[in-house]
Amino acid sequence: MTTAPSSFVKGLEGIVAAQTEMSHIDGTAGILEYVGISIGDLSKHSTFEETVFLLWNKRLPNSSELGSFTSDLRANYALPEGFVERISSLPTSAEPMHMLRTMVSALAMYDDNPNDNSVEAARAKALKILGCAPAIVAAFDRHRRGLAPVEPDTSLSFSANFLYMLNGEKPTDAMTRAFDICMITHADHGLNNSTFTARVVISTLSDLYSAMTAAIGSLRGPLHGGANEGVMKMLNQIPTIDDAEAYVMGMIERKERIMGFGHRVYKAKDPRAAELMTLAKQLADDTGNSDLYEKSHKIEQVMEREYAAKGIYPNVDFYSATTYHCIGLKLDLFTPMFALSRIAGWSGHVIEQLADNRLFRPKAEYVGDHDVPYTPINDR
Ligand code: SDX
Repeated sequence: MTTAPSSFVKGLEGIVAAQTEMSHIDGTAGILEYVGISIGDLSKHSTFEETVFLLWNKRLPNSSELGSFTSDLRANYALPEGFVERISSLPTSAEPMHMLRTMVSALAMYDDNPNDNSVEAARAKALKILGCAPAIVAAFDRHRRGLAPVEPDTSLSFSANFLYMLNGEKPTDAMTRAFDICMITHADHGLNNSTFTARVVISTLSDLYSAMTAAIGSLRGPLHGGANEGVMKMLNQIPTIDDAEAYVMGMIERKERIMGFGHRVYKAKDPRAAELMTLAKQLADDTGNSDLYEKSHKIEQVMEREYAAKGIYPNVDFYSATTYHCIGLKLDLFTPMFALSRIAGWSGHVIEQLADNRLFRPKAEYVGDHDVPYTPINDR
């Protein structure tokens, strides 16, 4: 049997599987734009609320639009009636990403019309999930610490409210701004694995909760959003700055993956890593964690010398680890932070997919045998 040349592309590398108006990535030049605006400009001048409006409406809001979008988001900070009791019944040993995946899925049961995929219903669900996901993470973390949940404060921004619900006290402006820059830089990023997952799920005309739940499951993976926790574990393994080079060289010799480096698309430094490096340095200096930043910077220098030729540079996860640590977040909350922000991108892609849907159904190339006879069990 003559077989046609295979069109199989492992990992769909380089395959264009969707069109989007939200984020543009130039992996060679190391450029990321949300609706044409550079991530550098957005990190410097925007807020997470404004960035979400930009992604969902494909333009920046004027001040009254931003005001009403912000109040619509804040109106969704609160968890549904009886929901926090569910969180308080969870095992305190649960991994936060497993908890978040489970509880975002549970939100569907508190929605009178969970399967409504009309544009206005999808936007309302997106606002609900984005608005109350911070309360889910904060309530669970306080539960596992034996503390009562803190009610959201609708006078606070998305970032300030999350830190307030987590810590039980209003955050400083500096910590709020730092967290907001993290939310801006993680909001959307083309057809990454978790975004593709969300699009695949909604393309069957399933529901937004199923799409978000699946995306959280994907993001948890250490090759994707879970890498920021891997970076922190690596930094914690390195006793001092002077040990950093030998530690990384040992990993390279053992052909181990260095978390926070490499990218399927970027073959230059991830522009988000550049923004977060600046933030991490400032925060590290301000919070007495300069050794963390110095270790990271030394690792980056070693990796530049050893791997730049292979197009392996820091990605978004490398400096977000130090940033989240300096903000005071526990290591196993780093990936949930990525999820809180990426709910914005996932929702935007789901709404784009619904607006011009076609079921995702690629092919698998059968490479097994043919015409095999059935052997009765007594003859096997
Ligand atoms: C995110 O897609 C997105 O946009 C994702 C993301 C987003 O915003 O949504 O940007 C967020 O997920 C960032 C990536 C976080 N993951 C990590 O930091 C985990 C470590 N990095 C890798 O495992 C890897 O770089 C990937 C998974 C990110 C990308 O891998 P690819 O494109 O599948 O590349 P590959 O595994 O085929 O590697 C190519 C070569 C290999 O060497 P050879 O076998 O050819 O000799 O590069 C090497 C790899 O061994 N390599 C690494 C490396 N990454 C690639 N070697 C050491 N350390 C690394 N980190």
